[in-house]
Amino acid sequence: MLEDHVTLETLITDSVARKHLPKGGLRHAVITAEHAFQLGEERNLCVDVATKAGLLHDIGHTSWENQGEWDYESYNYFDIHTIKGAERAHELLIFKGEDLGKSRDISLAILFHSASSPISENVTLTPMQKLVFDADDMDHEKDEERHNLEIDFTEALERVRRLDILVYKMLKDCKRQCKDCDGRVGELSNGES
Ligand SMILES: [Fe+2]
Ligand SMILES: [Fe+2]
Repeated sequence: MLEDHVTLETLITDSVARKHLPKGGLRHAVITAEHAFQLGEERNLCVDVATKAGLLHDIGHTSWENQGEWDYESYNYFDIHTIKGAERAHELLIFKGEDLGKSRDISLAILFHSASSPISENVTLTPMQKLVFDADDMDHEKDEERHNLEIDFTEALERVRRLDILVYKMLKDCKRQCKDCDGRVGELSNGES
């Protein structure tokens, strides 16, 4: 089962991720993936889906730059990064051979990760979508800062490799079928695996 597993390292080293993740901030992407892992453990949700959605949640960002700075007034008014991110992440995941069910769940969690997006109005989040929403918020740096603070790619790669090992350990014991999984870890409620 795990020979087909798509790792965070596979995702973060892809040219699409290398191009787009730094716009929202590589540090913010990695720390959100780390928080998503922690929340996945605490809430008994799939850490594989959680960390991938955490890592890629801001891949839809555009550089809202005005003379080298983010233009937050313009960003808050016109931004649709959740929509672009959901589509961009889905394309990347499918390209890497990710399970179709996981690709769907990761993409939808990205679509609904931000309260500032009008698309999230009147939407009841699933536990996984709420997890990614919360993981994003756990980055304590303010909005204006968190997209500008950076770590270098070597550090980002080391940190996602560490997460890959932790995810793998948990994933190999999971008996659920990914295709129609609702993100909960363990046996299905009817006792089947
Ligand atoms: Fe975001
Ligand atoms: Fe974010």
